[in-house]
Amino acid sequence: MSHEEFPTENPAVVTCGLPYANGDLHIGHLRTYVGGDIYSRSLRKLGQETAFVSGSDMHGTPVAVNAEKEGVTPEEFALRHHEKYEATFPRFDIDFDNYGHTHDETNTELTQDIVRTLEDEGYVYEKEIPVAYDPDADQWLPDRFVEGACPYCGEHARGDECDEGCGRHLEPGEIEDPTSTLTGNPAEYRERQHKFFAVSDLQEYLQEFIDRLEGTSNAQNQPREWIEGELQDWCITRDMDWGIDYPGDEADDLVLYVWVDAPIEYISSTKQYTERVGADVFDWEQAWKESGDIVHIIGRDIIQHHTVFWPAMLKGAGYIEPRAVMASGFITLNGKGFSTSRNRAVWADEYLDEGFHPDLLRYYLATNGGFQQDVDFSWSKFRERVNSELVGTVGNFLYRSMLFAYRNFEGTPEADVSEEVRDRIQEAIDEFGAAINDYSIRKSGNAAVRLAQFGNEYIQRNEPWKLTDEDPEAAAQVIRDCVQIAKAIAVIFQPVAPAKMQALWEQLGEDGEVADTRIEDALETPPASFGEPEALFEKIEDERVEELNEKLAERVAATESESDESEEDADESMADESDLEPIADDRISFEEFQELDLRVGEVLDAEGIDGADKLAKLTVDIGVEERQIVAGIKQLHDLSDLPGKKVIIVANLEKAELFGTESNGMLLAAGDQADLLTTYDDATPGTKVQ
Ligand code: 2FM
Ligand code: ZN
Repeated sequence: MSHEEFPTENPAVVTCGLPYANGDLHIGHLRTYVGGDIYSRSLRKLGQETAFVSGSDMHGTPVAVNAEKEGVTPEEFALRHHEKYEATFPRFDIDFDNYGHTHDETNTELTQDIVRTLEDEGYVYEKEIPVAYDPDADQWLPDRFVEGACPYCGEHARGDECDEGCGRHLEPGEIEDPTSTLTGNPAEYRERQHKFFAVSDLQEYLQEFIDRLEGTSNAQNQPREWIEGELQDWCITRDMDWGIDYPGDEADDLVLYVWVDAPIEYISSTKQYTERVGADVFDWEQAWKESGDIVHIIGRDIIQHHTVFWPAMLKGAGYIEPRAVMASGFITLNGKGFSTSRNRAVWADEYLDEGFHPDLLRYYLATNGGFQQDVDFSWSKFRERVNSELVGTVGNFLYRSMLFAYRNFEGTPEADVSEEVRDRIQEAIDEFGAAINDYSIRKSGNAAVRLAQFGNEYIQRNEPWKLTDEDPEAAAQVIRDCVQIAKAIAVIFQPVAPAKMQALWEQLGEDGEVADTRIEDALETPPASFGEPEALFEKIEDERVEELNEKLAERVAATESESDESEEDADESMADESDLEPIADDRISFEEFQELDLRVGEVLDAEGIDGADKLAKLTVDIGVEERQIVAGIKQLHDLSDLPGKKVIIVANLEKAELFGTESNGMLLAAGDQADLLTTYDDATPGTKVQ
């Protein structure tokens, strides 16, 4: 591994967190996979040798519990879902070099091999621990087979994870007041011999590792609390039949904990890729044992597994460490969580069956917010972004300039690209490279959209339609420049919108695949002739959105009445319109409103407050002075994006102290996602808002 800029001389491996093979995929699930696909395509665009791998997570209680409910074997159940996932990802152009699963031979052998190495290196020991047991069902209760209270925060939690409270990984025996999810009866604790991985032996190593780790700041900061505190050893076996057998004879009634074999699939999947294409094309051993640049792309709920347990396992077994972890925020639907059980979701297949192109969703998911920021999906927000950015900015520029080129020059006019446009394209190329090195998928996509914005402004400013008669040479120059911008957009935007950009590539009369181009090809001369272009993006009409909202609300309501849920739950799952607060009857006077001193500010600096989950400290220029303001936006925004942004501040609010930090003013933001209020035009800092 290196910490040099991409592209490096090393093979890179981009991985996506393995989905449990236990349900249908909705569009929220796609966020990390779309992110991984864009990131790996972008690395290749920079010239980096890259393998993009993942697989289905077949083992563990998430699968066993659901298989049991259906009355089928876990293997049959998991394989069925694995096959579905394998078919769904390509429909969104999520193009894994290898997509395996954790139950196959490669992963079974490699997992057992790694565990044996950990044993040989002295990292594994045996210990007697209390394990939950259901006397009625006469069965041990690993992980999700038991529920109870979290010993750390007291919230309701399942066996291996405090999913409703503090989010901690829980070891067997830790959960208090255990209840069996099989029978609903209280469970009892019985002593059992289990295997432990001595993560604590690697504490010093992990402390250094976390300082080297790149990626999103949540993945770098969140684990510090665990790594710097008392690091617990990790029970790596479970009393179950379904899973990978613990290697060796003496413990053959134990299987390995699912979180042992799941990340090992990252290696197994790379190995399978090598077995298919040959080590001269991609060498998995070099990547994982010598000098690979490993980038893990995950949801933020599994940061601990990827920044503590997994690097400890890699280190203990003699593999190289990850270079970066990119952890995405959560995704909501109309401001509330997706709920598979309540059918409150836009399913991946459903999205496509409604006739929407995958690239629209890819764009929405990738550029709606910073990667670690939570993202809300609603059909109306989706329509808004498609219509204004893809249709209005990108599509509009491409269609108008290429149509003009076709009608007046039957293709690309003969001329050299102007210096201004060459420099602007180079700026977009640099912006793209910097974004990828900064692990910002959003910025890499925005580089192309901003270039299209420039294109629109350029064509508008130069008005070639007025020049064709009076100065044909000048008209040819403008259009030559525009065709070059169109080509650059095809190259730079391809990782985000691979199918649409391939269509543009063909419209430009180019041969081959735009996927095979390198970023510097954005400046190569386009073909001299091309045919009549077609609009690449279509507007989504308001009526369509209404129809889709209604469909979703009806479906949720139908599922709720079937499942006889409480009124409170039912309210929670209605579509956004019904969640809006009514306007208060009492009105305030204009004079009362004027007491608020609202000012335009410009963010100078933004950083998370250590130890606080949600709080960030901002330095804001409000013209007359600089203010330090504390706001609850840490997990909702990519803080590094904020400097330079205009915000609105309540400037005459009394000072407050939050988490030991003074807050001198308040930042205005809309809704649960803290959508920051900003200015429409260019009001300078200090301007009064009235
Ligand atoms: O939390 C999950 O959905 C797990 N299936 C993720 C596994 S990622 C990994 F490390 F393999
Ligand atoms: Zn907890």
